Parts: sequence; structure tokens; C-alpha cells
Amino acid sequence: MSGRTGGDNARILLAGAGVRGVKWARVIAEAPDATLAGIVDPDEPRARRARDEHAPDAPVEHDFAPALTRIAADAVVIATPPDSHHSLVCQAFDRGLDVLCEKPLSDEMDEVLDLIARADDAGRHLLVGMNFRYLPSSQRIRHYAWSRELGALSYGHFTYHRQRDGNRHDLNDYVMTMPHPMLLEQSIHHFDLLRYCYDAEVESLVCDTWRPSWSTYDDDCCVSVLFRFENGVRANYLGTWTAAWNRMDFRWRTEFEGGALIQREQFEDLVRVDFDRGLGLRGSNFKGDAEAETPVPEPLAPCTAFIDDTRELLAEFLRAVRGEAEPVTTARDHLKTLLVVQACIESMEKGGWMQLRDVERRLLSGSGSSP
Ligand SMILES: NC(=O)c1ccc[n+]([C@@H]2O[C@H](COP(=O)([O-])OP(=O)(O)OC[C@H]3O[C@@H](n4cnc5c(N)ncnc54)[C@H](O)[C@@H]3O)[C@@H](O)[C@H]2O)c1
Repeated sequence: MSGRTGGDNARILLAGAGVRGVKWARVIAEAPDATLAGIVDPDEPRARRARDEHAPDAPVEHDFAPALTRIAADAVVIATPPDSHHSLVCQAFDRGLDVLCEKPLSDEMDEVLDLIARADDAGRHLLVGMNFRYLPSSQRIRHYAWSRELGALSYGHFTYHRQRDGNRHDLNDYVMTMPHPMLLEQSIHHFDLLRYCYDAEVESLVCDTWRPSWSTYDDDCCVSVLFRFENGVRANYLGTWTAAWNRMDFRWRTEFEGGALIQREQFEDLVRVDFDRGLGLRGSNFKGDAEAETPVPEPLAPCTAFIDDTRELLAEFLRAVRGEAEPVTTARDHLKTLLVVQACIESMEKGGWMQLRDVERRLLSGSGSSP
């Protein structure tokens, strides 16, 4: 069953009750303008646990197709492994439902293009799980890029070192055997943040990926990229799930003409430095804090990562479902991030710089579509 009820309370059917789906169940159940209409997962005990915790009255199903006919819904959130996304999104569109699907929309570019075309044909919204855009730290960096409060943005340096042991019981399993797990599952968020916060599209890049001998992943889980953006901004990226230190080490530093922004933790701790040119002419220049500008913490709203940022993304989705506002975190926008991922893979395989324009042209001419 489908079709808007006409009220302000959107009924959301959730597919997938794994690590991510449980978060979605909570966020949907707690939203003042949404109802968790049901949960679908072939692992029914999982689905029941999520249901019992967050929406005791919601029905649980183990198969998506019958769930779509039995459960009245206005929209669907899909939090299943990437190789199931295309089929589930198509089924939801066939029932006339709007969809928010987790990233990557698909690990196959032809499926991504197909879904964008189908969304257009069906007149349905298709959003993607780029929730980290809504972290207060991300919003603040974007604010500086827009406002030019620190002058023009010049270059960025983004590093993410994590020892993410794939054998942990509280992590998903499918990433251990998928191709390019770091690029498609994690770096995809970081590339999206660079695009979104710097408000710029990648013009070209050169990338290398590799797999350290002690990795728990079958394929490459270290990614190094040098980006040139269309507006002249440069960024240098290193991300890994196979670090040799169990301390999460995140640092994202952005240089502007008038100072720097440095995010020192994954979801928080953003400081601003106002550049004092005169200071560079004094002292030894190597004595650390004593001879440098003092970093000032940026005021950031409290945020529980994966929850509060997801609430904001859900709110964007609900505004689209109700016809109140056009969404921005769309599949069409996500395609630009996936093109960056694709360019990384081609650069690694062929060696050398890749022009995003060329990667896009090849893909679109191969698919015969024109998103
Ligand atoms: N945006 C984020 O912050 C974020 C964080 C983590 C994961 N994710 C994404 O969420 C998705 C799921 O990741 P996860 O970590 O929860 O994986 P997971 O393996 O923990 O859970 C996936 C669940 O989907 C179920 N499932 C599989 N096929 C299904 C189908 N056809 N219908 C219904 N349920 C089905 C599985 O039984 C499992 O319970 C992935 O695309 C991942 O990249 C996003």
C-alpha cells in the first residue's frame, strides 16, 4: 500500500536493521513528524530487536516485496548492503514511494545512472545517506568557505587513520570482501564533505590505493589522493582502515588567506587560527605554541554523531516527501561524489592524473543516459 496520507506525519518503511538500520530506526521513531511504519530484514531477530527498542507497534517483515504490499507507507529508508540497493530502490519506485538510500547508492555506476533516470521517470525523490554534511563541524567549515570570513579558501589536508578491524562483532561483514572498501564505504563520505564544505567540484585528481599486509580486508583499504578543484583549491587526502595504532587519528586542516581551520576529532573539536604575518618574522619559528597564534575553539552545537546529523538528513527528506522543499542531498548530487570515487579507481589502475570531465563523459556515453 502506498500514497500520502495528507497529514504531516510521514509513514516510513525501513529496510535493513543492521548497524546503520538501528540508528535509522531510532531517528525515525523519535521524529515528531514521522512514524516508523515497519522494519524489513531477512534477519528477523535483528529487525524485532530494533522494533522492540524503538517502535513496539511496528510490524516486522523478512522480505521487502510483500512488505511493500502489506505495510502502508509514504516513503522508504534503505539501510542494507550496497549490492541490494538497486533492486530495493526500484521496487519502492514501482510502488510510488520516495526513497532515501544509504551510501554508496550502488557500487556499480550503471546502476546509479539507472536509478537517477528511474527517479526522474517516476517523479520520485531519491536521497542518499550523506549525513555527515549535517555535523556542526561540517556546517561551520562550509560557512567559512562561503562567508570568506578568513579570506579565500586555498588548500586542505584531510587525514583519517583508523584501525577498523573487520572481525569486530559490532561491525558489518560484507565490507571485508567487497572491492575498494575504504573508497566506497568511508572515503566516499570524506570526498562528499570536501565537495560540500568547500562548495567546489573536483576538476582532476591523482590517486593511489593499497593494502597493508596486516589488513583484515581483502581489497585495498588505504587511499591517497591529490585533488584539484575547479575553483583552484587543492586538497590532499589520506584515509585508511588499516592503521598500525588503535587510536583513531582524524585531522582536517583548511588554509585560508587569513588563517586556518583545524578539525582535530572526527565529529568535533574545530579550532580557528587567525594568521598573524608579523609573527613569522620573529623568534626561532620552530618552538611550537610559544611562537604561534593561539587556536580558538569554534562554538559548535552539541551533536551525537550518526544520530543528530541523521535527524537533519531525515528532516530534509521529509520536507521533500511533503513537497515543501527541493532536497539537495540527492542521488544526482551523489553521482558527483561517485565520479570522484570512479576517477580514483581509474587513476590507481592506469596511473596519473584523471580529469573528472573525461571520466563523466566516458561513463555517460557508455550508458546512453544523460543525468
Ligand atoms: N551514512 C552512514 O553514516 C552509514 C554508517 C554505516 C553504514 N552505512 C551504510 O548503511 C548500509 C548498511 O550498512 P550496515 O553497516 O548497517 O550493514 P549491516 O551488515 O550491519 O546491516 C545490513 C542489514 O541489511 C539486511 N539486509 C540485507 N539484504 C536485505 C534486503 N534485501 N532487505 C532488507 N534487509 C536486508 C541484513 O540482514 C542486515 O541486517 C550500507 O550501505 C553502509 O554503507 C552508512
